[in-house]
Amino acid sequence: MNRSQSHCLLEAHSISHAFDYPLFDEVDIKLYPKESLAVVGKSGSGKSTLLHILSTLLPPLKGIVSLLGMCDIYALPQKKLLLLRREAVGIVFQSHYLFKGFSAKENVEVAALLAKEPIDKKLIERFGIAHVMQKRVSDLSGGEQQRVSIARVLTKKPKIIFADEPTGNLDSATAKEVMDAVFEYIKEHDAALFLVTHDTDLAKRCYHLYELKERRLHPLQ
Ligand SMILES: Nc1ncnc2c1ncn2[C@@H]1O[C@H](COP(=O)(O)OP(=O)(O)OP(=O)(O)O)[C@@H](O)[C@H]1O
Ligand SMILES: [Mg+2]
Repeated sequence: MNRSQSHCLLEAHSISHAFDYPLFDEVDIKLYPKESLAVVGKSGSGKSTLLHILSTLLPPLKGIVSLLGMCDIYALPQKKLLLLRREAVGIVFQSHYLFKGFSAKENVEVAALLAKEPIDKKLIERFGIAHVMQKRVSDLSGGEQQRVSIARVLTKKPKIIFADEPTGNLDSATAKEVMDAVFEYIKEHDAALFLVTHDTDLAKRCYHLYELKERRLHPLQ
């Protein structure tokens, strides 16, 4: 299937945002099934903010985000936006946001229950976290929490994955294994991946690569 034959999963048009000062302007993005897109850029350039805007979490100052056939998601009633996020969007946060008082297993189970999907035991094995699944999240290492958080997102079977520094706490071999699983997932499920990272090798694995610099998104590949 090529781009002209499939529906765009994510379309962002002319996005601008600012907090105390302007972050970026005129950001345009299109993402189709089986595609991945990486954004690199200096710390503080606005990568996480852009990811939050594209992933239903933060309305931009200007511009339109359309996701999974829903035009202008921030014009939707709040309930519809929440439903879209819950049912079809998978977000791997830079700071994980797991339920810290619960076990790793319970965290993945919540996603499985909500999505009415089974837990993929092979994936848990592959991520090297089977032996820590009974532990409380607050007792896990940063890298273990990161892998639980990615396993939780894949368990949900989202149509689009937004991942903010998903391998920031992982050694290179573990990072490769985990990201291999994510790339395989988007191919097998006609899903898409929007990735923010400081890891240039990982960024280069993506179909599109951009640098966020001087308030604009510059294509690098
Ligand atoms: N909710 C907020 N209120 C005010 N300022 C914010 C808010 N969130 C982010 N910022 C500011 O916006 C800028 C961009 O932040 P952002 O987290 O998007 O950067 P980043 O490119 O992801 O950085 P890093 O690589 O360090 O994760 C920073 O200067 C940050 O302090
Ligand atoms: Mg960030």
